[in-house]
Amino acid sequence: MRIAVFASGRGSNLQAIHDATLANDLQGVSLALLVCDRPDAPVVEEVKKRGIPAFIFSPQDYADKKDYEIVISEKLKTAKIELVVLAGYMRLVGSVLLEKWEGRMINLHPSLLPLFPGIDAIGQAWRSGAKETGVTVHFVDAGMDTGQIFLQQKISVDPEDTEVSLAKKIHSLEHQLLPKAIQKFQQEM
Ligand code: GAR
Repeated sequence: MRIAVFASGRGSNLQAIHDATLANDLQGVSLALLVCDRPDAPVVEEVKKRGIPAFIFSPQDYADKKDYEIVISEKLKTAKIELVVLAGYMRLVGSVLLEKWEGRMINLHPSLLPLFPGIDAIGQAWRSGAKETGVTVHFVDAGMDTGQIFLQQKISVDPEDTEVSLAKKIHSLEHQLLPKAIQKFQQEM
């Protein structure tokens, strides 16, 4: 199964997915394309080192979302992509991609949705005083972190935790859960 990862930042989840494919934890999965909307994002350097093909663009070079999503659609088609994985892609997906990819596009979010959608989900959970939080992988729809939940895992917020230690725990859980979600998609969908 050929997958594309969309990312805007650090790319630690892209690395976890790629490492899992190389270690054969994700058998039969090939990370065939990065789509990135920020040319200065660290993930761009990371894919160069790893030899992963990439489409890097600046949204301001296009008239609107529709225009750049048409180009992304063509790149996905050329790369024969079967599943799109949003891993820190900090942009709402528009109608061009949603129409083509409904049911084949998943997003990673660092909370137990429907709790704490949107930005800074880890900080939101921390400030709420919640005793547990977690990570969600869900199908993408037109809303912000609203699509049908595909896989979810809880962790406790312990008395000795700080916001920083909680973020570390969430990120290492993400690095486990996202490859698992890709495997589940490959097996079940
Ligand atoms: C991850 O924590 C992901 O859950 C979050 O961005 C981070 C990307 O990290 N996504 C969202 O908050 C989406 N609403 P990474 O660039 O190191 O993979």
